[in-house]
Amino acid sequence: MKIVTVVGARPQFIKAAPFSEVFRKENREILVHTGQHYDANMSDVFFQELSIPKPDYHLEVGSGSHGKQTGRMLEKIEEILLSERPDGLLVYGDTNSTLAGALAASKLHIPVFHVEAGLRSYNKQMPEEQNRILTDHISDLLLCPTQTAVDNLAKEGIVEQVINTGDIMYDAVLRNLDIAQHKDNKEILVGLEKGQYYLATIHRAENTDIPEKLRTIFTALEQLGKRVILPIHPRTRKIIGEFGIRTNNVILIEPVSYLPMLNLIANALMVITDSGGLQKEAYFLKVPCTTLRDQTEWIETLENNWNVLSAIDEEEIIRIVGRQLTCLEHPQPQLFGNGQAAKLICQAIVKGGKVNE
Ligand code: UD1
Repeated sequence: MKIVTVVGARPQFIKAAPFSEVFRKENREILVHTGQHYDANMSDVFFQELSIPKPDYHLEVGSGSHGKQTGRMLEKIEEILLSERPDGLLVYGDTNSTLAGALAASKLHIPVFHVEAGLRSYNKQMPEEQNRILTDHISDLLLCPTQTAVDNLAKEGIVEQVINTGDIMYDAVLRNLDIAQHKDNKEILVGLEKGQYYLATIHRAENTDIPEKLRTIFTALEQLGKRVILPIHPRTRKIIGEFGIRTNNVILIEPVSYLPMLNLIANALMVITDSGGLQKEAYFLKVPCTTLRDQTEWIETLENNWNVLSAIDEEEIIRIVGRQLTCLEHPQPQLFGNGQAAKLICQAIVKGGKVNE
């Protein structure tokens, strides 16, 4: 079987690694990198570290407004699909690269396989929510990470070709944790004692694009009792520069690759984030999390308070972070599968939507 896979943003590289390894054993995968993330520390470093095959096509679309970025990708992916004529197209998650890939294939009647289907925040202002809904509704095979995602699709009338494979990000954590903890990969932790720092990330448009919200987040982080390590997304770096936000307790570091990030999470006292992936990685590594958003797609992580949502309000952030510190050692049901998602996704694609048959 020959498929085209479209990736473009950091979380997609992490998900692509386990799948590509399994799928390529007996099938052909043409990898397209849209170039949505283009800085070396947002892209190349993941390909090297996770041994992801070199992309067959690099579209170099770079930054731009949503319409421009998605439109540029759409045009170029269509050309590739016309010349490669694959049996299907695979996309991950909810980025502009996901939507562009799915739309190009669907218009050419090429089956679309969506990994991480069925996620919903029910906030249509988020570009990611728009991308998810549209991609799910034109997909031919919906590969869901959780039962919640399956149920969300059912509410929208999507019940055919829907499979709960478990979460491929759990595969990635299980595959890489030992490697991450090898001493050669622990440099980033120098000077950081286990449990003596908070790990934070902020990059969602809903938090970064309103100056007062971003300022409120930083004002709260500045008041936490322990240091906050914040690998900074280029979007956020640019905006804090423009707004003149200064930090002291918050230590800004360059974006880090996957293995050092696993170490940073595993050794943190708590994760404070607006990222989807990081909420789950904190859960998998049994680190409490405070999510700086009004909703989450990953509602399973809220069970037993492993993850708690906080509105963007200075006092509330400080209060919730403080309360979260007392929530350790709670039971953790296994709601994200068993770490075999890559295999199940591969089987489902090859067998046309059936697993274990
Ligand atoms: C995108 C995804 C989001 C995902 C995130 C992971 C969409 C709509 N959003 O958000 O779902 O969680 O990736 O990081 O697809 N930039 C750089 N260098 C880079 C990449 C981006 O400088 O390598 C800057 C550019 O100024 C760009 C801005 O960051 O305009 C935002 O990048 P973009 O790809 O639009 O969205 P993300 O915020 O990264």
